[in-house]
Formats: sequence, structure tokens, C-alpha cells
Amino acid sequence: MMQPAMIRALDASEAEARLGELADILVDAVVHGASVNFMAGFSAEDGRAFWHGQLPGLAGGEKRLLVADDGTRLVGTVLLSFAHQPNAPHRAEVGKMLVLVSARRQGLGRQLLAAAEEAARAAGRTLLMLDTESGSAGDKLYRACGWTAIGEVPDHAFRPDGHLAATTLFYKALGPHRHPATAVR
Ligand SMILES: CC(C)(COP(=O)(O)OP(=O)(O)OC[C@H]1O[C@@H](n2cnc3c(N)ncnc32)[C@H](O)[C@@H]1OP(=O)(O)O)[C@@H](O)C(=O)NCCC(=O)NCCS
Repeated sequence: MMQPAMIRALDASEAEARLGELADILVDAVVHGASVNFMAGFSAEDGRAFWHGQLPGLAGGEKRLLVADDGTRLVGTVLLSFAHQPNAPHRAEVGKMLVLVSARRQGLGRQLLAAAEEAARAAGRTLLMLDTESGSAGDKLYRACGWTAIGEVPDHAFRPDGHLAATTLFYKALGPHRHPATAVR
């Protein structure tokens, strides 16, 4: 019987070893119309190149990658990117929140997001930001998980099929926020 997928961190060396699976998840999302920065025709090679480009950030500690692993393959991802500005040591961005089409609506997106929030909190990152296509599954997931929609930018990005779509910006405060160099909040 298939095991339930486990949510866990993937470090840079394992991410490098599993670039093909990470690429498959990204390609699957684009093929099925998700607006995740890429256009139709996005290939497995393009997917590998994207994830390869994340390796230095993962190795350097500026990013964290969490995955859903069903024991035979990776079926979901979420990427946490820590803000680098000196006045934002409490902030991080959530991206590449992806679950294979075949594994959706089983709670993995919710679990990945919760794990990303926990990893952010553990790293002292208490203000999370993200954006997603308005009305998309992602939009619904973030609302269901207690994120606050800030507003919408019309015509913000082209979908893979070439149609323009609005983007909604979201945040979630995990507070309290602290700056390591000051006692002021
Ligand atoms: C967004 C995404 C990661 C959700 O993953 P998932 O594993 O299917 O999500 P979950 O099963 O944990 O859903 C949790 C809740 O989110 C909401 N939700 C998720 N997908 C939804 C959908 N297609 N329609 C309506 N509500 C949805 C529901 O409230 C759901 O709870 P429920 O199933 O009890 O009703 C997945 O649809 C995906 O990979 N989409 C393409 C990529 C994308 O758009 N990512 C976000 C932008 S980076």
C-alpha cells in the first residue's frame, strides 16, 4: 500500500541529486496551467536549470526547500527565501508552492505550507509574503491557511497559455518580530 507522503527539508546536495524530480513537479504545474513564472513549452531541462539555480542559495542558507516525499518520489515543493536587506531580518518569501496534479486535494499543500511557516519561525523569520494568481488553487489554499490578501494587481503576469491574469499579494505574520541588533519591535 502507498505510504502517506512525508514533509521534510531537502538540503542542497540532495536537491542536486534529485533535480529531475524537482523539475518534473515544476513542469507538471506549468503544463496544467499554473502561473508560476513560466510559459507553455517549459521543458524538463528548463526545470532542472531553475532548480539548479537555487542550489547556491540552499547551500548558503538564504533559502530553504521543503518537499513532500511519498517514499518513491518527490510529489510537492515549497521554497522559502529569506530577505537579505539589513532592515528585514524578520521577513521571508514563500514560493514554488507546488503539488503534482496526481497528488492534489489530499492535504499536501496545507502540510507543506505549515512546514514552511514552521521553518521560517525557527529561523526567526516572522513575516511571510507571497503572491499568486488571483482565484487560483494557490489563492484558495493561502486563504484557507489563514493568510491575509493585501490586494490585487490587474494584468500582473501572463499565464502559460499567454492570457494575462491578475495577481493577489498575501502576507502572514507569525510574530512577534524582532531585529537582532535592536530591542525595538
Ligand atoms: C496550490 C496547490 C499547491 C494546492 O495543493 P494541494 O495539495 O492540492 O492543497 P491541499 O489539498 O492541502 O488543500 C488545502 C485547502 O486549500 C484549498 N484548495 C486547494 N486547492 C483548491 C482548489 N483547486 N479549489 C478550491 N480550494 C482549494 C481548500 O480549502 C483545501 O482544503 P479542502 O481540500 O479541505 O477543501 C496545488 O493546487 C498546486 O500545485 N497548484 C499549482 C501551482 C500553484 O498555483 N501554486 C501556488 C502559486 S506559487
